[in-house]
Amino acid sequence: MSASGLRFHPLGPIGVETADIEPGRIPEGEAFEALRAAVLEHGLVILPEQHLERGPQIELARRFGTLEDHGFSEGTAHPEVIPISNLDESGRVRGMHHPSMRTFRINESWHTDSSFRPTPASYSLLAAEVLPRAGGETLFASLRLGWTELPEGERAGLRKLRVVHDYKDAYARVEGFVPGGATALGDPVSHPLVRRHPDTGEPALFLTGHASGIEGLPPDEGKALLAKLLAWCTREDRVYRHRWRPGDLVIWDNRFMLHRTPGFDGENPRVLHHVRVAGGPVEPY
Ligand SMILES: [Fe+2]
Repeated sequence: MSASGLRFHPLGPIGVETADIEPGRIPEGEAFEALRAAVLEHGLVILPEQHLERGPQIELARRFGTLEDHGFSEGTAHPEVIPISNLDESGRVRGMHHPSMRTFRINESWHTDSSFRPTPASYSLLAAEVLPRAGGETLFASLRLGWTELPEGERAGLRKLRVVHDYKDAYARVEGFVPGGATALGDPVSHPLVRRHPDTGEPALFLTGHASGIEGLPPDEGKALLAKLLAWCTREDRVYRHRWRPGDLVIWDNRFMLHRTPGFDGENPRVLHHVRVAGGPVEPY
């Protein structure tokens, strides 16, 4: 056991889990530094049995940095928290045809959080409260491994490319409405296809299933290259599939981790709470 008292167990090709953080106790000092170091190294850390209320979830997220001003939850008791819920105001399940549920379908594509912004999110903290009996898992894949495992010959030329991220295009593809307040997302942005992690200096690809093209390439060519690289990063033997348990807290680093949900039946309640930490400009590698 390390000086922090935390032990981390590998989940598979990526990610680790620790059961050494006492539920409800926000790690600080060496324990927090060990937790952050594990996220930076492994991409995601699962903390089971946390059952965090919104306040402590926000407090823990703030240890990682300034929270993202996403504008999705204005006027609520916790504007920092994005509810990922299929319940309406009276607690009834919304069918999958409901416009806000169609909007959630954007999460079925591989993505990193707020890639549409000039400064996308760094960390995400997602806490599970109520879960359906089946489905609704979250899948993770590493954009760092996607780059480091890419054969040398296929890396040639990629470092000079920039990927276009356009939230209006991505929402239109799922026929969802753009959530209230999300106008702050603004115009399409482009980010380097290969980025340098600001804390570790390590390279990673930066692309998502929402990306609309590559600057300077014909649309078909750009989309084909993005699809090929995305398929490479998300090869089945490189994916970790998280089957949620109530009380789970999952923390990941959007600067090199993709995630998506394969969806669920939509007939049972599913409630999770999401908090994002703001990131900085994306540096090319
Ligand atoms: Fe997400």
